[in-house]
Amino acid sequence: MKVSPSILTCDFAHAADEVRFVANSGADMVHLDVMDGVFVPNLSFGPPVIAALRPHTDLFFDVHLMMQHPRRLLPAFAKAGADLINIHLECADPIRETLADIRALGKQAAITVKPATPAEAAFPYLDMVDMVLVMTVEPGFGGQSFMEDMMPKVTALRREIDRRGLSVAIQVDGGIGAVTAPIAAAAGADVAVMGSAVFNAPDPRQLVAQVQAL
Ligand code: DX5
Ligand code: ZN
Repeated sequence: MKVSPSILTCDFAHAADEVRFVANSGADMVHLDVMDGVFVPNLSFGPPVIAALRPHTDLFFDVHLMMQHPRRLLPAFAKAGADLINIHLECADPIRETLADIRALGKQAAITVKPATPAEAAFPYLDMVDMVLVMTVEPGFGGQSFMEDMMPKVTALRREIDRRGLSVAIQVDGGIGAVTAPIAAAAGADVAVMGSAVFNAPDPRQLVAQVQAL
C-alpha cells in the first residue's frame, strides 16, 4: 500500500517540523484534513496553513476536504499547493462540476464516501477521479476505531474499477494501523491514511515500511 499520514493529530505549534517528520518516516504523501465546522462537527485549517507548509517538503499533498461547499475554494487550495483535491460525495456542491473544476486546475481529483453512503453511489464518478476514499470512521476526528464493516464497499469498488479497466486508487481513512491496514489491503484498498497510528508509533519508519509492504 501507499501510506498517507494525516497531520490532524500533530503538534500544530510545530507543524512544519511535523510535516518533515512525516517525510522522514518514508511516507508516500501527506494527508491534510480540512474541516469546515459545518460538514463535520470540527474545524481544522484551510489554504493559508497548507500554503505555509508547502515550502517545507516535496511530498505529495493529499487534501481531504470535509466541507459543505468546497467548490468556491478550489482555486485557493490549488494555489496553496494541493496535489490532489478530494471532495465528499455528500457535500452540497454539484459533484461532476466540482470534479471537473479540480481537473481544470491541473490537480488530481478524488471523491469520498462516508460510512452511511453505499459504494455504488460513487460508481457514476469513477471515470472522473484518480482516487476514491472509503471512510472507515465517521469523519470529524482522529483516533477513532476502524469500521471493518466498510470492507465490502472497498471490495465492491475494486471490482467495479477493475471491471471497467480504470486506473483509480482506493484509499481508506480512519483507525488504520498495523492491525487494520492488512484487512483493508485484503479487501482491495491501496492507499492507507494513518493519523494517530503514525504519530503514536514507537518506530514510525518501521510502521510505514510494514504497511507499504502489504
Ligand atoms: C477523520 C480524518 C482522518 C483522521 C485519521 O475525519 O479524515 O484523516 O484524522 O486519523 P486516525 O488515523 O487517527 O483515525
Ligand atoms: Zn482524512
